[in-house]
Amino acid sequence: MEKLMLLLICLCGATYAAVIERPLKEIDFYQLYNVADPEASISLRSKRSTLDRIADHGYPVEHHHIVTEDGYVVGVFRIPYSHKLQNQNEVRPIVLIQHGLMSCSDAWILAGPNDALPYLLADAGYDVWLGNGRGNTYSRNHTTRSTKHPDFWKFSWHEIAYYDIAAMIDYALSTENGLQQKEKSIHYVGHSQGTTVFFALMSTRPEYNEKIRTAHMFAPVAIMKNMENRLVRTLSPYLGYHNVYSSLFGSQEFIPGNGFLLALFFNTCEPDLWARPVCLRAMDSLYGNGRVNITAMPEGMATHPAGCSTNQILHYMQENQSGYFRQFDYGKAKNLKKYGTEQPPDYPVEQITSAVHLWYSDNDVMAAVEDVETIAERMPNVFMHHMEDPLWDHADYALNWEIREFVNEPVIAIMEAYEMELSQV
Ligand SMILES: *[C@@H]1O[C@H](CO)[C@@H](O)[C@H](O)[C@H]1NC(C)=O
Ligand SMILES: *[C@@H]1O[C@H](CO)[C@@H](O)[C@H](O)[C@H]1NC(C)=O
Ligand SMILES: *[C@@H]1O[C@H](CO)[C@@H](O)[C@H](O)[C@H]1NC(C)=O
Repeated sequence: MEKLMLLLICLCGATYAAVIERPLKEIDFYQLYNVADPEASISLRSKRSTLDRIADHGYPVEHHHIVTEDGYVVGVFRIPYSHKLQNQNEVRPIVLIQHGLMSCSDAWILAGPNDALPYLLADAGYDVWLGNGRGNTYSRNHTTRSTKHPDFWKFSWHEIAYYDIAAMIDYALSTENGLQQKEKSIHYVGHSQGTTVFFALMSTRPEYNEKIRTAHMFAPVAIMKNMENRLVRTLSPYLGYHNVYSSLFGSQEFIPGNGFLLALFFNTCEPDLWARPVCLRAMDSLYGNGRVNITAMPEGMATHPAGCSTNQILHYMQENQSGYFRQFDYGKAKNLKKYGTEQPPDYPVEQITSAVHLWYSDNDVMAAVEDVETIAERMPNVFMHHMEDPLWDHADYALNWEIREFVNEPVIAIMEAYEMELSQV
């Protein structure tokens, strides 16, 4: 137990150190928030949601609660059409956009209506859906189970893929606009874990490939043999395989993030708070290389990290330790019961027949070029988009100044080419 505590402190500390260089002794965050009660800090924080933020810019926006086959209820936001185009009575192509680990739908709209992908897509005539995986701020809900019940947190990104993403696709296709589609399919965009869940779903339920027109993977994460992330690399030798520590650490809400870090972010970055200069200084030392939109940072910090199950982190650490892209390792006995084999099965990515565009870069600590290329070799229908900018990193997909030119516009052009062809059939 002592060692586990040590690991937790490490984990907490490493994230903390990455955010801010020196400890903010003058602020008692534990006083501000009840760390033991994530509900309390979440309720404090979620006064404003993705819905409010989108509505601020005049776009029509909806909040849907989608029930999955296994009873989770995920909160999904939708920009159904563009108020500028007034295209609500036309059939609009559907696109589902899925966030990364410890993130949420807010990550996609930070750059604002001139640059952020959801707005650009809406203005290009699309019906835009912003997903939220089970367990994050908008998806702490279940038809019968409370979030306080330990079983609620027994999931990894495998379940987000297999149940949540599948449910979101089917739900979007079952709406009035969905039913009118010429082809019963959608476009998909994912960042980081949002790509992992795409690979996992499309390989384990290959019938879903028919429901995909084009798919765009930003910073694709599947095999993690070569990734450079300090946190995962340091801890995965301890937690990256089934043992007593990983069992103790597993199947819980990732509370260090929810209590302590949220308090830190929320309080220091809110525009009207006295601690804002401290926050901006920290942001500047982290992101002050002139590449990202600092104006968008406070909102980013106020909405992140958005919570997850510790199993999602463990599952990634297992990928690093094993070198495989495969299902969750429960230990030999339970693996035998669940999978019929002592080792968890590999995801058969050869089954992913939909058109998959991989957007990747040299300076990405989570998605190493070698790992992206290894997985790409096994997929039958891939298109490689290596970022020219040698400094482009994992977070640049959300906050880089030039995201519109280097990512969003090319992605929309690929979708438009597909739509053009479809309209001519
Ligand atoms: C920077 O972010 C702010 C806040 O979202 C947004 O209003 C602004 O348009 C962004 N600027 C650029 C150039 O991306
Ligand atoms: C939980 O899901 C139900 C639908 O099953 C929905 O009516 C309710 O608003 C949801 N609650 C939250 C807090 O999202
Ligand atoms: C995990 O990632 C690190 C960092 O790239 C790498 O050095 C290590 O070999 C990986 N672990 C395994 C077992 O492949």
